[in-house]
Amino acid sequence: MNDQIFRDALASLPPVFRDAHPYASLLLGSGWNRAVSSLRVLAEVPYGEIAGFGAATVIGHDGRLLLVEGPRGGTALVFCGRRHWYEGCEWEPVVMPAVLTHRLGCPTLLVTNAAGGIRPTLRPGDIVILRDHLRLSPLTPLRGPHDPAFGPRFPDQSRVYDPALAETLRAAGARQGLELTDGVYVLSCGPAFETPAEIRAYGILGADVVGMSTVPEAMVASACGMRVAGLSFVSNMAAGVTGKLLDGNDVVDCAERHADRLARLVVDFLDLLAADGAATPAR
Ligand code: HPA
Repeated sequence: MNDQIFRDALASLPPVFRDAHPYASLLLGSGWNRAVSSLRVLAEVPYGEIAGFGAATVIGHDGRLLLVEGPRGGTALVFCGRRHWYEGCEWEPVVMPAVLTHRLGCPTLLVTNAAGGIRPTLRPGDIVILRDHLRLSPLTPLRGPHDPAFGPRFPDQSRVYDPALAETLRAAGARQGLELTDGVYVLSCGPAFETPAEIRAYGILGADVVGMSTVPEAMVASACGMRVAGLSFVSNMAAGVTGKLLDGNDVVDCAERHADRLARLVVDFLDLLAADGAATPAR
């Protein structure tokens, strides 16, 4: 990756972002955009105005970076939407939220997505805490000459998703009577949905949910030494599991129908993190 792109991106942010010292950062995927609508927005910048990022092009992705006040004070970054490899962009825009979060001094990143359910006991509307992921393709943002800015040449991947943060997510769910299940996310390159044969194979290999994002950002954030948490909203059962044909609009519609639940979960996660002492006073 070209580090100059990230340095230019950082320099192009309104100064309030660079002075904020956020205690958490959220990367909101398909359908999660409304998750922070109850929080006070302190500053906002469209992705198109962040150098090297580019406007979001995919339905359900707003393409705005927010600085919000946390539920107990302190500040959090909120990336509303993401860029995907399948859009045809380079890796830098895809991992921009992870790298900017790191460079703004924020230690904790929650990545969220909409995903197809592979495990037959899942149902649309379920929320899965990511325990691990499968990256079966050679796609990786860490390919290329080694740059120590992104951690070691061979970053350990045994704990990409921080177990303590997973417990914080579980506790946030419990506050609302939600029993969140754990699962393994498999990265599918997209933009086509998977074939039923692929889904059967992924299931045999241990995947519980499938989606077209999250893994590159989580890998980079973890390699940089950040604590990463992941949540998948099950927007549909994956290809062939129920026989229903898949449509990208249904993914977003389903997430919109559950937006209030997703919002309470995310805000409770920020609240519990702050209760653990993560939040610094808002400036
Ligand atoms: N497959 C891949 N990505 C997805 C799916 C799916 O079934 N649902 C939401 N994102």
